[in-house]
Amino acid sequence: MTLSSTFDRRHGCWQVQHGPHPAHRCRIQGPPSALFAWTFLPKTRSPGISLNFRPRRVHFTFRVNMPSFGHLHVHWTVVVAVLLLLLLLYVTAGVVYRLYFSPLAKFPGPRLAAATLWYEAYYDVIKGGQYTFKIKELHQKYGPIVRISPHELHIDDPDYYEVLSSRTSPRNKYQYYVDQFGLPGSSFSAVDHRLHRLRRQPLNLLFSKASIIRLEPTINSIIENLCHRLDEFKKSGQPVPIRLAYQCLATDVVTLYSFNKSWNYLDDPDFAPNWCETVKATADMGHTTKQFPWLFPVLEALPDSAVAAVFPGMLLLLNWRRSLAAHIQKSIDSNAKGEDIGGELPRSIFQSLLESNIPKEEKTLLRLTQEGQVVVGAGADTTGNVLTITTFHLLSNPDILAKLRKELEEAMPNQFQPAKLSVVENLPYLTAVVNEGLRLSYGLSTRLARIAPNEVLQYKDWAIPAGTPVGMTSVLMHHNETIFPDSYTFNPNRWFDQPDGGRALERYLVSFGKGSRQCIGMNLAKAEIYLTLATLFRRYNMTLHDTIRSRDIDLKYDGFLPQPGPESRGVRVIFS
Ligand code: HEM
Repeated sequence: MTLSSTFDRRHGCWQVQHGPHPAHRCRIQGPPSALFAWTFLPKTRSPGISLNFRPRRVHFTFRVNMPSFGHLHVHWTVVVAVLLLLLLLYVTAGVVYRLYFSPLAKFPGPRLAAATLWYEAYYDVIKGGQYTFKIKELHQKYGPIVRISPHELHIDDPDYYEVLSSRTSPRNKYQYYVDQFGLPGSSFSAVDHRLHRLRRQPLNLLFSKASIIRLEPTINSIIENLCHRLDEFKKSGQPVPIRLAYQCLATDVVTLYSFNKSWNYLDDPDFAPNWCETVKATADMGHTTKQFPWLFPVLEALPDSAVAAVFPGMLLLLNWRRSLAAHIQKSIDSNAKGEDIGGELPRSIFQSLLESNIPKEEKTLLRLTQEGQVVVGAGADTTGNVLTITTFHLLSNPDILAKLRKELEEAMPNQFQPAKLSVVENLPYLTAVVNEGLRLSYGLSTRLARIAPNEVLQYKDWAIPAGTPVGMTSVLMHHNETIFPDSYTFNPNRWFDQPDGGRALERYLVSFGKGSRQCIGMNLAKAEIYLTLATLFRRYNMTLHDTIRSRDIDLKYDGFLPQPGPESRGVRVIFS
């Protein structure tokens, strides 16, 4: 009998024609090993094959004689065993290379971390955001430079931060790190320093100090929106979930500046808890998606209901991306029609990007949506976190609070007048408070790796090969007891008592990172922080409600953004 077979894509199986009539067509089903043999080992379809089937039935059983090499009959278990052996050899050779022959083999660190990325995955994915703390322990054991993975080094030496995060020498990012957000189109994820410069250059102007000063009335009007909401809580005596409120403030500012249309989350009666959960879930998922970056395309291809069942955080993220894409599409449409949707407002970020002379392929909806996700996401939770941590420490330290209030009363005689940035950012005690708040809120709790693509970096006696990712972490910097003694205590005097007002010490304050990849939103974030703290602490009396430092404030896990433990009830404040 002559057999001909074709692969039926629709049903995902082989069809065999075993006679001239269409009724002689059958679908092959069988154990995976036999299907594998049929598909990939064409010899099995040679006359050596024998089939038992019942014509006219779609499903039939069959038996495959496994491939024959001359007189040798090879059973499928042997094929699988050989494949497994090859895999084992490959893995062993890889581990031996990593441990003994890699250019990083000479660096100190645990052998297991040098052998496999599963070491990091164990601490971050399985134990949940614990690698930052483990890295600290590794430094205590192995010294200031440690090999923390087969490919990456970590340094704990505050004086090295500015060398690593250079502004003048090229610094690439680490593909493994940026993959965690699946946003290759953003400036944040531009691995190569030249592509990064191309993307960042049109944004620089929009986030310059001068641009942020133009934005000051807008920021103040959104702070007034917050105050209206706080007045409602003041009347009712209900505690305010302050982190949510601050995050809504930061989101309203950044979305207004991005799209000329604020998302007005401050108007939400509960301060948009779903939005705050979205940002947290997106950042939290980073540990998993860093290890398995293919998850993004797979989950994006699945129906929402399936994603929600497997990865609820991912669904929040996908919905956020869709809504961002809709906002950016509006900017693209109005730009195409030559409309100016901003009115009195300064040019929005995305209008300006569309009008800039970056190449056309950098103006696609997909790329701009990815840039939008970074700008909105980066602008919301980070700023909200600094404001929350600073508020908590001020309310827990009556002496510090009294000193701050005195300075504010003198600088702002009318408590209901909007704060002026030029005044408040020059207040020495407020500046010390802001610096201390930034220090204890860390910015990002994960390490930021930089790569010198063409330069051998020298750290003490160690020559770091060009192209090696080297990370440093703000959490370790900010708790360096030599630079910040008694580092867990909120003490603005460590800045205020310095003869230069703490300027020199700011070298070690790295919440915004440093160098060419430093946070682009730093001027905006600082303006929001100064104006909000000055307005609220000048205008309101506040007390903490059921808030405990060890439960609700202290860093317990690195979710990219610093997070307290799962038992946290958040910081709640009563206004009077
Ligand atoms: C207190 C608030 C903020 C903190 C602590 C902070 C911290 C950081 C840090 C540490 C980085 C570097 C990340 C890395 O190296 O991978 C970064 C990057 C970035 N931040 Fe911020 N950020 C804050 C506020 C903002 C705001 C308000 C915006 C925008 C509205 C913003 C937009 C960005 C962008 C676009 C990047 C990527 C920059 C680049 O790669 O060139 N951030 N931020």
